[in-house]
Amino acid sequence: MNFEESQTKINLARAFAGECQGGARYQFIAQKAMQENKKNIQMLFKTLAKNEMAHARVFWDLIAKHSKNTQKNIEIKAGYPFEDAEIIDMIKYASNNEKSENTTIYPSFAKIAEDEGFMDVADKFKKIALVENDHFMLLDELYNKLKANSLYTSTTPYDYKCSNCGHTENLKRAFEVCPLCEKTKDYITLDMIKTPKN
Ligand SMILES: [Fe+2]
Ligand SMILES: [Fe+2]
Repeated sequence: MNFEESQTKINLARAFAGECQGGARYQFIAQKAMQENKKNIQMLFKTLAKNEMAHARVFWDLIAKHSKNTQKNIEIKAGYPFEDAEIIDMIKYASNNEKSENTTIYPSFAKIAEDEGFMDVADKFKKIALVENDHFMLLDELYNKLKANSLYTSTTPYDYKCSNCGHTENLKRAFEVCPLCEKTKDYITLDMIKTPKN
């Protein structure tokens, strides 16, 4: 199938636009977290924003690879979700978006790419969907822990690590202030939520 007439071309453009928006939203959340001195949430969203921009680049490159008309405007019709709220609610919205990307949107785009004979595109949609699933699980867990007020507590001792100085202590309840550099617990890395659930 000719790429110019394919649905895959439109889907790639939609995915590119979606990833750019995702990257922007995550940078905004990082900025909000910075204003609220939530250092660890800021760092997490900076990393997620970087991931989304890398996905945008993958889609961009695929369009350039297959299209003979890279200078041509591609018209797309798509939703542009707008949410501005408290950080915890923005995390919930973000986790919902990640879920729909990895369970619905990208798998269907991969299937269409396969049907249209663009196996390389299908492969990238599938691989990015797996990353979005990791993002979903991470954000879902972060939301649940924030909501339950249990971001810094665990039933079994956990290595709470200060991201500023690296000081680590194995505890059920994290230190309020780092005993070494005296930064607040907002600097504790969010590694404890980074293990994807099965
Ligand atoms: Fe992404
Ligand atoms: Fe994502």
